[in-house]
Amino acid sequence: MEDLFDAITRLKKERNAVILAHVYQPEEIQEIADFCGDSFALSQQAAQTDADVIVFCGVRFMAETANILSPDKITLLPAIDAGCRMFDDTLESRVKAFLKDHPEYKVVSYVNTPASVKALSEICCTSSNAVKVIESLPADQPILFVPDQNLATFTAEKTHHTILPWRGACPTHHALSVAEVTEAKKAHPGAKVLMHPECRPEVRALADYVGSTMGIIHYAQQSPDEEFIIATECGVLTQLEWKCPHKKFYMAGGNLLCPNMKKTTLELVKRSLETLEPRIVVPEEIRTKARTALERMLEVK
Ligand code: 13P
Ligand code: SF4
Repeated sequence: MEDLFDAITRLKKERNAVILAHVYQPEEIQEIADFCGDSFALSQQAAQTDADVIVFCGVRFMAETANILSPDKITLLPAIDAGCRMFDDTLESRVKAFLKDHPEYKVVSYVNTPASVKALSEICCTSSNAVKVIESLPADQPILFVPDQNLATFTAEKTHHTILPWRGACPTHHALSVAEVTEAKKAHPGAKVLMHPECRPEVRALADYVGSTMGIIHYAQQSPDEEFIIATECGVLTQLEWKCPHKKFYMAGGNLLCPNMKKTTLELVKRSLETLEPRIVVPEEIRTKARTALERMLEVK
């Protein structure tokens, strides 16, 4: 009998599909994926692919980004109810209201936003390029950074721009405490602390390296150190253990899990490839404006 892996491999060929997976996805999803990466690397893949179908194993804003950049492809999101808890449906109207009162501001939106907010933005960024994106704007330009307050303050610390942070946060990263990281450091005194910028500033102060998920993976690969405390979502351990099988990794806290990232299953991926549903289609008017903000980001070197 054909197992799920074989069925997905067969369907992928029949559909000329590519499977893109965020590194927070469950291990079996990262195993079946053609490409695993962080939000930035996945957006580059989505923009470049010559597949007819993109199966996005991640959360909704990532699949929207793929559809915005490659509208002629079919974009599937197998776990259709997987959203990002950093924002809700009110974000667009609240950002619009802010801009009405403060027309001098330009919006820089983290890719963790709905397409409608990207459409209001001057430029997008991810956790791996936020500093470069801000530096690409005129030094005297006031910036509203949405929605992650922690990435906003991290970026503000590294640039000279005036950045007003929105008050959003990732519940998974924002919950990590100083006490937890201090405890982990005590338990593993020789380990380097690698952390995502979505963590709070006082927690980031305890890190040896702060960067995106791919930044964390590259740091661990290139470092001469053997032990690391990981302060981001636990799915990243899959890549770390594949790429650095002889190094040791300890989670910085017990709750570093994003429930929405864990909603994708092999069954859902197979069903998506069979039915070519559920599709993500960003309406044309939003798509063209959001695309400008995303393309500006992809052009920043
Ligand atoms: P990166 O993929 O940019 O590291 O961001 C992590 C994240 O929270 C994605 O939802
Ligand atoms: Fe959103 Fe946080 Fe989950 Fe990333 S980890 S998808 S930022 S809730």
